[in-house]
Amino acid sequence: MNNKLKIAVLLGGTSPEREVSKSTGKGIIGALLNLGYETVPIDPAYGDQQPDFGDWYYNSVQDSFPDDNFITCMNSGLFKEVGLAFIALHGKWGEDGVIQSLLELKGIKYAGSGVLASALSMDKAMSKVMFRHFDVSTPDWFVLNSYVKDNSGIIQKIEKEIKYPCIIKPNDQGSTIGLSIVDNQSEVEAAIKLAFEYSKTVLVEQFIEGREIAVGVVGPDTLPPVEIIPSHRIYDYECKYTAGMSRYDVPAKLSPKLTAYLKAEGLKAYNALGCSGYGRVDFRLTSEDIAYCLEVNSLPGMTPTSLLPKMAQCQGQSFEQLVERIIQIALS
Ligand SMILES: Nc1ncnc2c1ncn2[C@@H]1O[C@H](COP(=O)(O)OP(=O)(O)O)[C@@H](O)[C@H]1O
Ligand SMILES: [Mg+2]
Repeated sequence: MNNKLKIAVLLGGTSPEREVSKSTGKGIIGALLNLGYETVPIDPAYGDQQPDFGDWYYNSVQDSFPDDNFITCMNSGLFKEVGLAFIALHGKWGEDGVIQSLLELKGIKYAGSGVLASALSMDKAMSKVMFRHFDVSTPDWFVLNSYVKDNSGIIQKIEKEIKYPCIIKPNDQGSTIGLSIVDNQSEVEAAIKLAFEYSKTVLVEQFIEGREIAVGVVGPDTLPPVEIIPSHRIYDYECKYTAGMSRYDVPAKLSPKLTAYLKAEGLKAYNALGCSGYGRVDFRLTSEDIAYCLEVNSLPGMTPTSLLPKMAQCQGQSFEQLVERIIQIALS
């Protein structure tokens, strides 16, 4: 360990996943302090006037910041002597290649995927095009680029190509925000309207009945898959972030053959997008044992109880050891 290294933890940000990012950031800062690193938290939403990161910061919900604060923050002296950035941001400008490109321009190394892989991972439709190209199974879909008042064409297309139930979701959100399961034609309009509140592009996707499995990747290695058993029909925001709303089987109860298949599919999806460092791949596994890839998360949640740390723990690696491994990969 190089405990002279100063690590900036970027957290907060301006996306709808700001609160989730603060939890990830808090988790990572805790691990870095335990590992003996000098650590500086930076919330780019605050520009060059950073808050003090006491309890109030983690407990307060504030959601409107000037857009140009990101660039003011990057141009400030906050990054002085920083040797590595650990990006704990989620969503727009954190996970989509934007902050990565600013760090590249500043010459600061960062953990996780590069600019293009981050941008592709954040864009579900582009990810799916890459999945198809690289032979990764993914649910059928079509894309809506602008909100249309008359949905009759869309309803026809769903009935012909996708069928009910289907999923309607924003193309570039996380945490299941703005996503609906649509069981019949009467629910289409509201679902489209909701998804367009979060994105300029909306995905209409075949609903995959099945088990919810996630595969973690760290460096060249896959971690033991985890099965998520949400108390709702899908793994929605409440099931993701409310204690007791989901059960987790770590490792997932899968035959050795199915485990190997899921790990291989996970790595294939991750590589299809050119990801590096670490990430988590989300699947639905059908009763016919076909794994449909929903997405790759290039900056997965990193609180000590998040999925990736759970997977690492299951093979005997502590949260601190996982964070240390990610840092070493970024520096190498
Ligand atoms: N096509 C689908 N079929 C079944 N469930 C889905 C589908 N798409 C999304 N879901 C459910 O919604 C959750 C969130 O969807 P996902 O595409 O992973 O977006 P994000 O996690 O970025 O919000 C998934 O974990 C899954 O439970
Ligand atoms: Mg997901």
